[in-house]
Amino acid sequence: MYSIDEREIDAIRRVFAKKKLLRYQADGSGECETFEKEFSSHIGSSHALLVTSGTNALIAALEAAGVSEGDEVILPAYTFVATAAAVLHVGAIPVIANVDETLGLSPQEVASKITPRTKALIPVHMDGLASDMEGLTTLASKHSLLVIEDVAQAIGGSYGNKRLGTWGDYGCFSLNENKNIGAGEGGIVVSKTTESAEKVLRAHDISAQFNPIAKKSLTSTVTTLGGSMRVSEITGAIMRVQLERLEGILEGLRSRKNLFKEILRGNNCAQVIVGNDEKGDCASSLHLLFPSTEVVAFAVRKLLAEGLPFIPATSRPAHASWKWASLLGQQNYSAAEFLPSIDILTRTLKMEIDLHQDLAATEAAARQISKVLDSV
Ligand SMILES: Cc1ncc(COP(=O)(O)O)c(C=O)c1O
Repeated sequence: MYSIDEREIDAIRRVFAKKKLLRYQADGSGECETFEKEFSSHIGSSHALLVTSGTNALIAALEAAGVSEGDEVILPAYTFVATAAAVLHVGAIPVIANVDETLGLSPQEVASKITPRTKALIPVHMDGLASDMEGLTTLASKHSLLVIEDVAQAIGGSYGNKRLGTWGDYGCFSLNENKNIGAGEGGIVVSKTTESAEKVLRAHDISAQFNPIAKKSLTSTVTTLGGSMRVSEITGAIMRVQLERLEGILEGLRSRKNLFKEILRGNNCAQVIVGNDEKGDCASSLHLLFPSTEVVAFAVRKLLAEGLPFIPATSRPAHASWKWASLLGQQNYSAAEFLPSIDILTRTLKMEIDLHQDLAATEAAARQISKVLDSV
């Protein structure tokens, strides 16, 4: 969440003035419902539903997709632990595949993990970098697998001419405080068909099928053991303002990252990682891939000494599967299986792009990094 000001406060006031906080509003003018339509039309999805978190967005999508006990779901070694936890929450088995130098899943690696029990795959667009959605969706349709995109860290990003989240059968976003836009906490599930949107609605709220207003949007009467992932109108109201900020935020991040890329292009020490679609990158982070762990260890000390806030891509245990794989229970993963990912990620340094840093200061920081890299 890069910006918040009086506009969000005014939006919250509007909700309180109405004195109706539940999302189901008889006249269809609710903040949540309106946001969901605005968000769908903004990113080009058919349906969107607000939920209480990105983790719950994944759980609701997995449930709607019919993923259950015994099914295998392939996900990348570089992701937040919640991606795997969501799979466990629906009783399925997370199968972790290595990432490549784009920091996402490669179709080849996913193909090597497919078994007769595989039901779905979850590409994760980590740090705003797009996964190879063309390759992954082609592979998925060849094997009749569902695709659930984890777009928690890449709201607004795109691959090719489509926004992230709209390539798969479902797209799951997080609106927690660390994301491009957000409401402190929250999530969104986008889905392609009316049938899947109804399943997500039921999965997110056990009461929907009994609520006279929510019920109106359902075309069937199947009883579902849903959860309780409803958000209040406050989240909807904040998100309507946040959505208006999204393109400006992406533009600001991208113009700053472009400066880094222009200045660092051509250095002989490290490669800038751009994901699978450079233009669609949300540009929230700058990643440098070094040739060896010795060079990276030397470089990070020098960068930090210059006040350049780089961290190793492996520094957050919750983002490194080999540090949380023991949580997965039924899968006895050994760290050896993750060696290809460990190799890439331990050679990668990451720095968050500072949206509030002016362009001159950004350019100066880029020149400073370039100088350090020249000296390594
Ligand atoms: C890749 C990824 N997936 C899922 C989540 C879960 O989102 P939330 O914290 O909103 O539950 C996050 C949150 O940071 C994330 O980064």
